[in-house]
Amino acid sequence: MSTETTTLTVELGERSYPIVIGGGLLDSAAEHLRAVGVPDKSPLMIVTDDNVAPLYLEKLESELTNGGYRVVSAVVPAGEATKSLTVYNDLITQAIEAGLDRSSAILALGGGVVGDLAGYVAGTYMRGIRFIQVPTTILAHDSSVGGKVAVNHPLAKNMIGVFHQPELVLYDVDTLSTLPPREVRAGLSEMVKHGLIWDRAFAGWCWDNAPRLLALDPEALIYGLEKGCAIKAQIVSRDERENDLRAILNLGHTLGHAIEAVAGYGRFLHGEAIAVGMAAAALLGEERGGETGLYGETMLMLRALELPVTLPEDMDTEALMSAMQRDKKFREGKMVYIVPTEIGRVEIANDVEADAIRDIIERLKEKEESS
Ligand SMILES: NC(=O)c1ccc[n+]([C@@H]2O[C@H](COP(=O)([O-])OP(=O)(O)OC[C@H]3O[C@@H](n4cnc5c(N)ncnc54)[C@H](O)[C@@H]3O)[C@@H](O)[C@H]2O)c1
Ligand SMILES: [Zn+2]
Repeated sequence: MSTETTTLTVELGERSYPIVIGGGLLDSAAEHLRAVGVPDKSPLMIVTDDNVAPLYLEKLESELTNGGYRVVSAVVPAGEATKSLTVYNDLITQAIEAGLDRSSAILALGGGVVGDLAGYVAGTYMRGIRFIQVPTTILAHDSSVGGKVAVNHPLAKNMIGVFHQPELVLYDVDTLSTLPPREVRAGLSEMVKHGLIWDRAFAGWCWDNAPRLLALDPEALIYGLEKGCAIKAQIVSRDERENDLRAILNLGHTLGHAIEAVAGYGRFLHGEAIAVGMAAAALLGEERGGETGLYGETMLMLRALELPVTLPEDMDTEALMSAMQRDKKFREGKMVYIVPTEIGRVEIANDVEADAIRDIIERLKEKEESS
């Protein structure tokens, strides 16, 4: 892939940090760590999963070791089930045993699962140590930026977590070449989300370029990732702790998280679940007076990216409703929904009746029968 490197900045005052995007970056990781001031006297811990480890761990380890760092690695099982307090506890044990101290950094080498988990370890170990994101999935262009880190509770996703910003996001796009096609599609779901909430032209671009994105065309992919990261960075800079604006990043996530929880973590990939959630949100938006064609166009975009837009018939509506009430977006007795008003624009609504959501869920199941 291209070796051109782009650097974006997440502007957060003294906690601002760079997102470095390009090819071959694993080979210059030590230099990038030094550039953000990671000291080499204390050990670093790389957290990765057992799919990513055989592909990229040795490369990163030897690059950092050659660059003068001491490195220990922890390999966790791949998959959403790993975002648990049990695995978290194992990692804390390994960090203590390896002698990580307040000057150490934890590096997350992998997708959003490893990023969220390792970030939660970094955010809580000794009340918080340095954290570096080294994303290896398309989806992680979203999850690695913004500092939300968490593990799941069996009853609700991302329920246990903190805000802990990384000091660097080092995004080596060469790693994406080994992603399974289903993970490529799931990652593109968050990419098009950034267009749907913020930038109509970018949503249109994702649609027009769907075949190139699905084929991992380097030029298209890098453009899409940069644009997606830039949108996320802008939103996070304006509202780091989700007091208001940042909530729009949750488009499709209230239902999406419920789908993941009810189906059992892993049956729907995160990106697939939120694609269904975004289809539901668009249908709701059109019914609430949003622009004509909002739902139809959203469906076409998601389908172009080969994402699901319907619910399995056997998914229990009431189970989804209760899972949604446990979501973090349920506040002061009200559910908060991110509802599109047109492509590229959303509103934060807290006046959506539960029955309206039930109705949409049922209709998303019916659609499956007729297709
Ligand atoms: N913190 C946030 O702001 C935020 C935002 C969006 C999503 N998330 C979280 O991110 C998670 C989903 O992330 P994800 O889709 O990256 O999942 P993931 O980390 O499970 O990665 C997907 C799969 O691809 C494998 N993999 C990763 N990189 C690979 C590579 N380069 N080559 C081959 N295989 C590779 C992994 O082992 C895994 O099996 C969810 O838990 C979601 O809640 C967090
Ligand atoms: Zn998401």
